[in-house]
Amino acid sequence: MTLWTEPTPKAALVARRQRLSRALADVPALIVAGRPRPRNYAANTYPFRAESHFLYLVGRQLDGAALLLDRGRATLFVEPPASDAALWHGEVPGFDAIRDDTGVDEVLPLDRLGDVVGARWPEVATLPANDEPTAAWQSRSSGREVRARSGAELTGQDATLADAMIALRLSHDEAALSQMRRAIEVTTLAHHAGARALGPGVREAAVLAAIDATFVAHGMAPAYGSIVSVHGEVLHNEAHHGVARDGDLLLVDAGAETAEGWASDVTRVYPVSGRFSATQRALYDVVLAANRAAIAKVAPGVRYRDVHVEAGRTIVRGLCDLGILRGEIDGLVERGAYTVFFPHGVGHLLGLDVHDMEDLGDRAGYAPGRARASRFGDAYLRLDRDLSPGMVVTIEPGFYQVPAILRDPTYTAAIERDLDRDALARFADVRGIRLEDDVLVTASGAEIMTRAIPIDAAAIEAWMRG
Ligand code: GLY
Ligand code: MN
Ligand code: MN
Repeated sequence: MTLWTEPTPKAALVARRQRLSRALADVPALIVAGRPRPRNYAANTYPFRAESHFLYLVGRQLDGAALLLDRGRATLFVEPPASDAALWHGEVPGFDAIRDDTGVDEVLPLDRLGDVVGARWPEVATLPANDEPTAAWQSRSSGREVRARSGAELTGQDATLADAMIALRLSHDEAALSQMRRAIEVTTLAHHAGARALGPGVREAAVLAAIDATFVAHGMAPAYGSIVSVHGEVLHNEAHHGVARDGDLLLVDAGAETAEGWASDVTRVYPVSGRFSATQRALYDVVLAANRAAIAKVAPGVRYRDVHVEAGRTIVRGLCDLGILRGEIDGLVERGAYTVFFPHGVGHLLGLDVHDMEDLGDRAGYAPGRARASRFGDAYLRLDRDLSPGMVVTIEPGFYQVPAILRDPTYTAAIERDLDRDALARFADVRGIRLEDDVLVTASGAEIMTRAIPIDAAAIEAWMRG
C-alpha cells in the first residue's frame, strides 16, 4: 500500500466551486491563498500553507494566488514567476497547466486583480486573511482594505460568503474524507513509531522526532505543533526537553496534515515503562469510558453539547467509583464536578483546520442562537451544533490534575465537600490523560475514523512492544 497521497481530483474541486456559486447566486466572491511569510529575511520563508478556504476550492498550495468566483465562473489570479525563479526553484507550472490541473475557467496574472474587482467593491464578498501581513498583501492586490480576521465582525456580503463556506465545509465530500483518511493512516504509523521509540530515559524530543519524521516521510506535515509530554496536564504543552522516566505517562497529541491541508488530530497516552500502574490503569479506563460513551452518542440530530456533558457525566461516575468524588451523579454534574478534572470541551470540528473554520470564530462552531457557556471548562467547548451526516468531529475527553486548578477555590469550592483529596492523592502518578479520536457522523450514527490506532490499555501496551 502506498501512502503517497493523490491530489484531490479536479472534478471534486469544480463541484465544490459550483456548490458555492449556487449558494452565493449573484454575489461574486474573492478568496485568497496568501503569501509565504519570511522567518527573518524575504528569501528565507516559513513553509507556505495557503488559507484553508482557498485550499477547499482550489486544492493546491499556490502562493500569491486569489480565486474570483463570479456567477459560476472561476478565475484564478496568480503571481507570474520571477525571471530567475526557475534557477532557484525549478520550473513552475505555467498558467495553462494550472488551469488544466484545477479546472478553473481562466488563469490571469495577479496584477490584473485590482482592475477586475477594483470597481466592484463592495459588491464582491471576501474573507479577510488570517494575519496582518497577509491582509496587507490582500488589500494591496485587490484594492479593498481588509483587516486580519481575528476579532473582525463580518457584515453584508462577507457574512453571506462566510455562512455559505461554513455550510459547505461542515459536511465533507468523498474527496475530503479520502484526504482525511490518508492523514489518519499516516498518523497511525506515526503514533506507532513514537510508541516504539519510548522507554525510560528517552527524551520527549526523541519521541517527537519519530512522530514528525513519519509525517515528513509520507509527504505530510504536523497539522499543529505535536504535543509529546510527560506533563499531559499542560493541555497544549509545546516543550519537548523533558526525559521520560519509569512510571511516567507520556501524552502524545499529534496528527498529520496532507499536502493539501486536510488534518487529523489524535491523542493517545503511553506508559513509559510499557505497563500502566494499577492507578494509571484505573483512571485511564475512566477516560476511555468517557471517550466510548461520547462516541456512542454521536448521531445525526444530536446536539454536540449533549455529547460533551455525556463525557463529563461518565468521568464523574468513574471518579465516584474510584472514591475520588462522592455524592449523587446528577448533582455533581450540575455543579460542574467534571470541569475540575476535564477543563476543556469534548472536541471540535475537524477538516482543513485542526479546529475547522475557527478562523471564522464561533460563527462556524456554534449554531445560530447558541453561545458559549459561561462556566469554567464548559466555556472552552468549541462546537455546539446539531450533528449531521458528513461532519467530522473529534472526541477527546481527558482527566488532568492541574495544580493551579486543584489549589484554587474559584474552581473547586462548588465540589470541595464532594472531593476526597486523600483518595485523589493515591493517583499521584497520573498528571494528564486525554484520549482523542476523529469521528465521522454517518446517516445512522458514527464511524470512528481513527479505529486502527489502539486505545484499550492492554492493546496500547502490546502496540508499544510490536
Ligand atoms: N490538538 C489540539 C486539539 O486536540 O484540539
Ligand atoms: Mn482536538
Ligand atoms: Mn488533539
